[in-house]
Amino acid sequence: MNVFVTGGSRGIGRAIVLKMVEEGYGCAFTYSSKKEAADETLNLCKKIDSKANVKAYRMDLKNVAEIESVAEGAIEAFENIHVVVNNAAVVRNNAAALMSNEEWKDVIDTNLSGPFFVCRSFLLHFLSNKMGRIINISSLAQGGASGQANYAASKAGLLGLTKTLAREYGAKGITCNVVVVGYVETDMTANYLSDKLKKIWVEYCPMKRIGKAEEIAAMVYYLTTEDASFINGEVIHVSGGLTYIP
Ligand SMILES: NC(=O)c1ccc[n+]([C@@H]2O[C@H](COP(=O)([O-])OP(=O)(O)OC[C@H]3O[C@@H](n4cnc5c(N)ncnc54)[C@H](OP(=O)(O)O)[C@@H]3O)[C@@H](O)[C@H]2O)c1
Repeated sequence: MNVFVTGGSRGIGRAIVLKMVEEGYGCAFTYSSKKEAADETLNLCKKIDSKANVKAYRMDLKNVAEIESVAEGAIEAFENIHVVVNNAAVVRNNAAALMSNEEWKDVIDTNLSGPFFVCRSFLLHFLSNKMGRIINISSLAQGGASGQANYAASKAGLLGLTKTLAREYGAKGITCNVVVVGYVETDMTANYLSDKLKKIWVEYCPMKRIGKAEEIAAMVYYLTTEDASFINGEVIHVSGGLTYIP
C-alpha cells in the first residue's frame, strides 16, 4: 500500500507518516515551506526502516496547478497510490467582524479548497484501480469556535465534502471518511491556544488530558486497513470524548 499525506513535515501529519512507514507502507508526503522539518520526518522514517519507500514533496495547497503536478508525480514515482490523507491546515484567528478578506481566503483555500483539489487529483486514479481510501482531518472547531469563523467553516466543509465523496464513489470501491481531532499538542496549538484555554480544554475533556499525535495516526492507519473496508462517509471523533470546543 502507498499513502499520500499532506502536511507530513510536522505534528499530526508527521505521526501519520511514521505510522504508515512502521506498518510497511510506501509514503509520499508534502510540506509547504519548512524543508528542514520535512527532512527530519524523512530521517525519522529511515530510522524506523532504512529501506522505507518515502518521499517528500513541496506543495502549497493554495496552488491548484502545484497540487495536480505533485499528485501526478507521486503516482508516477510510487506507481500506485491507494490512500490519500488530507491533513495539512492553517489557522488565522480573528473575530468575525474584524476578519480580513485575506484571513478568510487563506484558511478556506488551504483547509477546504486544497483538500478538494487533492481528492480530485487522485479520484480518476482510484477509479481506474477500483479502490481508494480518502481520509480527511477535521477538528472539533467544525461545530463552531469563537474567533475561528474561517477555520470552523473550513473544517465543517470537510464533513460535507467527505459525505459527498462517500456517496459518489462508494460503489466504485472508494471510501471517504473524516477524523475529527480534539486537542493535540503540536506547533498549531502551541502557537494559537493560550495556557488558559489549554487548561479549559483538559477540564472539559472526559479523559482529562490532551491527545497524542500518535493516537490520531492510529485511527488514520485503521481506516486504511481491510478491517475498515465497510466504513464510509463516517465522522469519527478522536478527542477523548470531548465533542465540542469548550
Ligand atoms: N493540533 C490539534 O490540536 C488539532 C486539533 C484539531 C484538528 N487538528 C487538525 O490536524 C491537522 C494537523 O494539524 P497540526 O496541529 O499537526 O498542524 P501543524 O503542526 O501546524 O502542521 C501543519 C502542516 O501543514 C502544512 N501546511 C501549512 N500550510 C500549508 C499550505 N498552504 N499548503 C500545504 N501544506 C501546508 C505544514 O507544512 P510546513 O511544515 O512546511 O509549514 C505542516 O506540515 C490539521 O488539519 C488540523 O486542523 C489539529
